[in-house]
Amino acid sequence: MRDFETVEVTTDLLIIGPGMAGSGACVEAAHWAKQNNLTITVVDKAAMERSGAVAMGLSAINQYQGENTPVDYLSYVRQDLMGLCRDDLVMDISRHVNGSVHMFEGYGLPLWKDDQGNYVHEGRWQLMINGESYKAIVAEAGKTAVGIDNLYERVFIVKLLLDKNDKNRVCGAIGFSVRENKIYVFHCKACLVSAGGAVHVFRPRSTGEGLGRAWYPPWNAGSSSYLTTTAGAEMSSQEVVFIPGRYKDGYGPVGAWFLLFKATATSASGVNYMAEGLSEGGELHNWAPYGEVKPIPTCLRNHLMMQKMYSGDGPILIHTDKAIAKLAESAPNEKAYKKELKKLESEAWEDFLDMTISQAVLWASKDVFPEEGPSEIMPSEPYFIGSHSGASGAWTSGPEDLQTAESKSEYFWGYNRMTTVKGLFTAGDGVGNSSHKFSSGSFTEGRIAAKAAVKFCVENPEMPEADPGKIDKLKQDIVTPLEHYDQHHAYTTLGAVKKCYELPVEEVNPNYITPKMAMFRLNKIMDEYVAGWGNQYNCSEMTLNIALQELKRLKEDLSKLAARNLHELMRCWENIHRVQIAEAHTRHKLFREETRWPGYYYRTDFPKLDEKNWADVFVNSVYDEEKDEFQVFTRPKHSLVNIREVVGM
Ligand code: FAD
Ligand code: ADX
Repeated sequence: MRDFETVEVTTDLLIIGPGMAGSGACVEAAHWAKQNNLTITVVDKAAMERSGAVAMGLSAINQYQGENTPVDYLSYVRQDLMGLCRDDLVMDISRHVNGSVHMFEGYGLPLWKDDQGNYVHEGRWQLMINGESYKAIVAEAGKTAVGIDNLYERVFIVKLLLDKNDKNRVCGAIGFSVRENKIYVFHCKACLVSAGGAVHVFRPRSTGEGLGRAWYPPWNAGSSSYLTTTAGAEMSSQEVVFIPGRYKDGYGPVGAWFLLFKATATSASGVNYMAEGLSEGGELHNWAPYGEVKPIPTCLRNHLMMQKMYSGDGPILIHTDKAIAKLAESAPNEKAYKKELKKLESEAWEDFLDMTISQAVLWASKDVFPEEGPSEIMPSEPYFIGSHSGASGAWTSGPEDLQTAESKSEYFWGYNRMTTVKGLFTAGDGVGNSSHKFSSGSFTEGRIAAKAAVKFCVENPEMPEADPGKIDKLKQDIVTPLEHYDQHHAYTTLGAVKKCYELPVEEVNPNYITPKMAMFRLNKIMDEYVAGWGNQYNCSEMTLNIALQELKRLKEDLSKLAARNLHELMRCWENIHRVQIAEAHTRHKLFREETRWPGYYYRTDFPKLDEKNWADVFVNSVYDEEKDEFQVFTRPKHSLVNIREVVGM
């Protein structure tokens, strides 16, 4: 048995995952905690300066309201999610997000400005930024606010702790250092989980030398969902993944190209499939009313692309060259034209260098000149990212002042963004049905949740207590993969090694499974049976049930995970987290008997929208860890605003 020291930390509010939402939470919580003499502790599996989805930087702030109203934004979001979102959550972020963006500018984030000093918009809601250091700038504000001594970096949180006297009350979290032999036990009055979404649940398109490359960052492995689900929190819309259409292989985002550069995309034979879909008798009318209003919902843009690809008219091409030429053509003379061309070319490269450096590297290595010819785009594998154009996450209380008489009993239980577990809050990718908040909206939601969490600590001043026996058991569970390796490593042709770079990972041992093998198995199950790209995003009752059987077997084998070192121990726990969201997702997909988000997934046995039965309900679930059982059910959608009247649908 390797020796592990236990470090105990007691605090009022614990923030798990200081990404965009967590950084916003730090700034806001610090303010209110100071006034109430409370302490805040922050824990990150990585280094906060470059952790989370914004680690590489971003090239735009995707949610800025400007002069638009919350109802304007709501109409856009609800439309994009094919009619399903929580109006109260979306409007709540919308009314506060401008302030967050102005805070970013105050922290030193360079926003693009035009000659008159106005922000440069990418699209109606998006602002262009020089965002390579976006996360570092925002994290610095968060760290300064809470104080560096209250930040624990490189500590992976494995599980939340519940009060020994009240199973529905959070009282802490347990995790381990990924650098030293230390287990951390945090005790708290309230906890805010903002540990991002999930990648590598589905098989990525990248293989071989590109393996591991994905659009979503490889370090978010479903922890928000796992931590809240296993604490008993009600979850929502776990069936709604996000599949981004991206530049092939490098996964470079398309937003700036479509919105700022006004590029068009065509099938291989040159069909502008979006225009075709919108034209009279076009495919989008089959998905009315959502398909008939601009902007075309994200899933339907994918759907049109997929239809072309799978009918043999692929690959899909984005015409960067034509877009650049068109933008430059208004130049008054040859000299100005050349200057404009150069400027556009450098903006094109900066878009990727600010946000997806690997795409720029791939362009360079493949001699791609965006001003000279088109590039291929393709739909990626599915991700869980409730802050973008997906919707998965926890079912949370909303703001009291935005409720109607009908919605209040369902959508409000005292504290904004509190889950159904007392004292457990979430934000960003952790919250379900509050999509399209992106970096700025996640930061804003973190602020909203943190303010409510501090209020909770003030109004619930007693310190809850975990069961010491349960903590001891968890400590043992955490290190078990290391013990498996120590006990059984000799029973292999590869012998004993301690460092991951000393041998290939494809180690076969009848006594254990390596984390990479477990991930490959998960990826295969999800890809083939739960609507991954390998099955052209199709699934059915039969395939989903097969997946559940396979996941059951995989869960059994997870108890045999083995880790050679602390880094692999983290990989083991990441996969345990991933499998939980995979199962929840499969069960939600099975429950919703329709195809509501074509282009994200197709239920081939229910290939159409079913407005009568499914338009007005969210699919929710609760997990009972002791019994290892899910209960899946619906919750009603309450519309606070009649969007159809507002936008004339
Ligand atoms: P994150 O910012 O991802 O933070 C998650 C945090 O949790 C991290 O600190 C992580 O280290 C930590 N964590 C995870 N697991 C654990 C654990 N077990 N224990 C402890 N800590 C843990 N938005 C825009 O506005 N504009 C854009 O241009 C844009 N482009 C994007 C491009 C890409 C490639 C991606 C992936 C996203 C993009 N987004 C963009 C969306 C934006 O990045 C997300 O909406 C936002 O980061 C979500 O915030 P979050 O706090 O929920 O998660
Ligand atoms: S990013 O988060 O990785 O940067 P992406 O580039 O797809 O995402 O999108 C950035 C923003 O542009 C998002 O708000 C997205 O909804 C929007 N967007 C992307 N493509 C289109 C399009 N063709 N039409 C309308 N909006 C789009």
